[in-house]
Amino acid sequence: MDLASHQFMSYFEPEQASHLCQIAVLESFAEETLVFEEGQAADFLYLVLEGEVEFSKRIDNNKYQTVAVAKTNDFFGELGVLDGEPRSARAVAARGSTLAKICREELIEALQFAKGSSVLQMFNLIIKNLRSTTDRYVNQLVHKQKMVLVGEMVSTIIHDFKSPFTGIKLASEMLKEMHPDEETQEWCELIQLQVQRMLGMAEEVLEFSRGSAVLNKKPIDLIQTLQKFEKLNRVYFDAAKVDVVVRVTEVIVEADENKILRVLQNLVGNAVEALGGRGGRVEIAVTQSEEWVEIKIYDNGPGIPEAIKEKLFEPFVTYGKRTGTGLGTAIAKSIVNAHQGEITYESEDQKGTTFYIKLPKIAR
Ligand SMILES: Nc1ncnc2c1ncn2[C@@H]1O[C@H](COP(=O)(O)OP(=O)(O)O)[C@@H](O)[C@H]1O
Ligand SMILES: [Mg+2]
Repeated sequence: MDLASHQFMSYFEPEQASHLCQIAVLESFAEETLVFEEGQAADFLYLVLEGEVEFSKRIDNNKYQTVAVAKTNDFFGELGVLDGEPRSARAVAARGSTLAKICREELIEALQFAKGSSVLQMFNLIIKNLRSTTDRYVNQLVHKQKMVLVGEMVSTIIHDFKSPFTGIKLASEMLKEMHPDEETQEWCELIQLQVQRMLGMAEEVLEFSRGSAVLNKKPIDLIQTLQKFEKLNRVYFDAAKVDVVVRVTEVIVEADENKILRVLQNLVGNAVEALGGRGGRVEIAVTQSEEWVEIKIYDNGPGIPEAIKEKLFEPFVTYGKRTGTGLGTAIAKSIVNAHQGEITYESEDQKGTTFYIKLPKIAR
């Protein structure tokens, strides 16, 4: 939209509006670029002419919580400009955006000459925005507290489930050894596969309810980590008739080994489940550059369902499974992010899926 037709201009007399249009500075922001940081001096009011800006507050060291969004025809940054306090949130362009900036002194002067009724109208809008931001924030807080409670409850229950699961698994292994006939072998493998899945789900829920715990980072050799992973899953892979190929040369990376094993478990587990007992191939390949290590997990399964492609990494997003928790990929992402890494994927319908995990070699 053009600046003159922005709703903010309607609060002023034509002459003032055209003056404001003249002194306003247009600026373009690429996607994901910072408009201002929390705590910075508030020297401009911003009018959104195109795009979208997201506001977030720092809640932990490097975690941000979104509290509001401004779209085309909205304005923001007025609070700091009016009361002279520093920015109370960080603003980032959520898409490519065009903003018009009006500096503090000009705005205050314009307001002094504006009609009382217009100023009132403007204040109404500001208050409405404040209310919706507060509502959103409070709702998020309540939701979070609920999740903590649910998490605690679930984790005690799941904890108690784990030992009978392990018992069943061991017993079926014993049966398999005692009765080598084909039928017993098949039934026992089925029991093991299902128990393994239940254990996997229990682990996922537990991990999620723990939240992003502190990482225990050490230099680890990925050859050894992957060997461990294969050994832990040998029976599972065989029972599911999945060929798992691992390609790795010596790579040392500073990471929390147990957490990396969890990422592999969740993603390879998904791949095996996607192959649905029909058998198939999973490839794990590690490559490296000077600063990064990349772990690639490929499967020749059916591909990520279209319906969830956009929100795959969000918690509780599950599709086409009777017993999915929807936490596997969310946990994988939170672990990779905690390592300052990146996780992405490519997927083609009926051809397969590849997850890419990039980790910095030296912890930052
Ligand atoms: N490799 C894959 N191939 C096909 N679909 C997948 C793959 N990985 C994940 N998915 C889909 O993504 C969904 C979410 O996975 P996840 O977060 O691990 O939760 P869950 O496995 O408990 O459903 C799965 O339900 C499945 O539909
Ligand atoms: Mg899963």
